Amino acid sequence: MEGKINIPRGTYDILPQQSYKWHWLKDQFHLLANKYGFQEIVTPIFEAYQLFERGVGKDTDIIEKEMYRFVDRKGRSLALRPEGTASVVRSYIENHMHKDGNLTKLYYLGPMFRYDRPQKGRYRQFYQYGIELLGSKSPYYDAEVISFADHFLRNLGLKKYRLELNSIGCADCSPNYDKALIEYYQGYKPQLCNDCLKRIDSNPKRLLDCKVENCKTISHKAPSMIDYLDDDCRQDFESVCKFLDQMNVSYTVNPRIVRGLDYYNKTAFEFINTGLKTQNALLGGGRYDTLVSMLGGPDTPAIGLAGGFERLIDAMEAENLFMGSYPKPTLYFITVGEEAKNSCAKICSLFRKNDINVEFDFERNSSIKAQLKSAVKANADYALIMGEDEAHQNTINLKNLNTSEQRVISLTEIPENITELLF
Ligand code: HAM
Repeated sequence: MEGKINIPRGTYDILPQQSYKWHWLKDQFHLLANKYGFQEIVTPIFEAYQLFERGVGKDTDIIEKEMYRFVDRKGRSLALRPEGTASVVRSYIENHMHKDGNLTKLYYLGPMFRYDRPQKGRYRQFYQYGIELLGSKSPYYDAEVISFADHFLRNLGLKKYRLELNSIGCADCSPNYDKALIEYYQGYKPQLCNDCLKRIDSNPKRLLDCKVENCKTISHKAPSMIDYLDDDCRQDFESVCKFLDQMNVSYTVNPRIVRGLDYYNKTAFEFINTGLKTQNALLGGGRYDTLVSMLGGPDTPAIGLAGGFERLIDAMEAENLFMGSYPKPTLYFITVGEEAKNSCAKICSLFRKNDINVEFDFERNSSIKAQLKSAVKANADYALIMGEDEAHQNTINLKNLNTSEQRVISLTEIPENITELLF
């Protein structure tokens, strides 16, 4: 006998006790995204590896350490997607979505893959929801995208979160800031972790994002990007703040929000779960004005965000919030004897064809009492009970499980719409 095979590390099954919550949450996201004028896009789960290397950035943790990369039978280098933005941009370019000259507003839902160290709230396969708005550099849209996220979380009933906002500047002003950071960190080199030592040369802003305690403490006194913004970036940042004020979205400016992907410029933000210390980023996003051209498309400014469903569900469970209801049957068939089972098989199918949610345990041979217990446990509204006598008389008993009222229904004439039998 060979041993049993377990689920891969960092993944999980969504069992029926949870899956209805996922359905409900996805529905909430679809509905709100549509209200804001976003349309769904579905892209493949794997893409050319290069897309992410160029899009997300060679020196990021995602590319350096976390890619699920593989070579297919024809030697192509592919990767399971670690995020959705690069894929959406690839599709935007490939399908010439810029051609009509309008804004393009897309949303997506789906699994993403990162080979990270698993822990609560951090998985190797996780599920993201995201929106991307392409075609405008107006700070109004930064605020619109951010306010969408705030609206989404608020609609779900969440209270324990905070929006942290920053601007990471542009290609003109950001190098000056990098210089200031490099200078600041020179004196701390002996105290930095190995990753941070590399970051000084490759990607100094990522020094601010390090989770190692010592590096975190050092980052507290580092220069702030906000002080290095050029006029254009500063004005845009002020406008984003102004629009957010108008939209009644509260935020704190956090100059340490730099984001872990290379494509960002100007606005960067995260919604933080204030009930947690670790893995507390509910969702994050920002502006990425150069990604479309970097991936071979026309110059197209853009902004977007994505969040993880797992962290959202954890946050909602912690605040005891409603996430849909476990599906329950309207009717529960209870039968004794072969004849009853066979005649119920027919009417059960008729009810189902009339959109009634029915449970029928065909092989069950236990007492009516035991079956009634199961009907109550399944939270059914009614039990339809047919014993041997009823089968002979061609009748069935309808029992309302909420009121315990019971009546006999004759089955000699079944109306075209069988649901009429119930009312
Ligand atoms: P990200 O910050 O890498 O951004 O991921 C967004 C969200 O996905 C995180 O805030 C978190 O909720 C969730 N997440 C990330 N990694 C994991 C993981 N290993 N396990 C569970 N949840 C995770 C992006 O992916 C960008 N594409 C967002 C974006 C869209 N920016 C512009 N447009």
